[in-house]
Amino acid sequence: MTTLSRTELSLPSTWYYDPDHYAVELEAVWYRDWVCVGRLHEIPRAGDYFVATVGSQQLIVTRDNENQLRVFHNTCRHRGSILCTNEQGRFPNGRIICPYHTWTYSLTGALLATPARLPVDDFAENDYSLYQVNSACWGGFIFVCLDDTPGCTLESFLGSEAQIMKHWPLAEMISVQQDRKLLACNWKIFWENYSECYHCPRVHPELCKLVPLYQNGVLSYTDTPNWRPDDASDDGRPRVAPGLATWTLDGQTGLPVIPGLDEHEIRNGVNFASFTASMFVVAHPDYVRSVRVLPRGPESVELIVDWLLLPEVAETYAGEIDRMLDVGRLLIEQDGRVCEINQRGLRCVQHKHGVLVPQEYSLWEFHEWLRAKLEDRAL
Ligand code: FES
Ligand SMILES: [Fe+2]
Repeated sequence: MTTLSRTELSLPSTWYYDPDHYAVELEAVWYRDWVCVGRLHEIPRAGDYFVATVGSQQLIVTRDNENQLRVFHNTCRHRGSILCTNEQGRFPNGRIICPYHTWTYSLTGALLATPARLPVDDFAENDYSLYQVNSACWGGFIFVCLDDTPGCTLESFLGSEAQIMKHWPLAEMISVQQDRKLLACNWKIFWENYSECYHCPRVHPELCKLVPLYQNGVLSYTDTPNWRPDDASDDGRPRVAPGLATWTLDGQTGLPVIPGLDEHEIRNGVNFASFTASMFVVAHPDYVRSVRVLPRGPESVELIVDWLLLPEVAETYAGEIDRMLDVGRLLIEQDGRVCEINQRGLRCVQHKHGVLVPQEYSLWEFHEWLRAKLEDRAL
């Protein structure tokens, strides 16, 4: 990635609040790409489930009796009632039962029974299985693709970003804390904020102490003029200040280093992987934080933040967990505030577009990515 060599226009302001445009983005991005909806550890046994919402679509995420992940639309094939009214739970006896007229489905989605239905010749249970949704897992994260024919496999969707995380044992790690936060802004505003560190000196003074590079308002050492690598392995990624270990308020940790990391991953103290548009992962030598992003309306986005540890570490070092949460919570607070004020200014009738400055190249790439997805849609 290189910095922009000229100013670029930001996206049209209306794209951040117009309900029709929001609907187009749901179709073009959220109902086509792979979207992270949770962790496998949330449903450890057959019949455990949780309900996930992507745009206007409600999904049941469960495991069948073979322990295979299964995702269905949360809609009964009879007359369309919601099947699960709770956010999470366990299907008794492995049966998914509609609360309206008791149509009963198996954990593989097959319609098993239609109690008290009067007989008729042309009714076949086989015709009314639950609506299935494509699903796949990576690193213990559950992804869904609402498109019947996904444009690519999950693996190719994740691409090289998954490789960045290859030394972290993500699949084994468990969430020891989950925070949810609703922000009054469009989902793109949050991604844009994540895509630049131009705001860091003003908005994140604590973070700038941990990562001195950020005081320059850039994301990478390669963005700064006249940068030269320290050695052949130095690719310019951000790193914590000398003497610091990780992202805690004082940069210190009582948690052990995760086995398998290399010396650069330990020295840098932070490593990012982005899975636009539903998640990014921030991996440290001692813990991992995932931030999931789900649009909740044209001017509303929900963030779901999980802090992950290896189970044995979570048990042995329970007293260290609070300190691990502080920086992530502070960042969400600080970023959330500026995202919301960003949103509020966009209805100005004269502000048709913003403008991007050189270090906002990653934001521009995000815009190009989105424009490509919207290319053949009527806007
Ligand atoms: S709507 Fe589900 S059984 Fe009637
Ligand atoms: Fe930020």
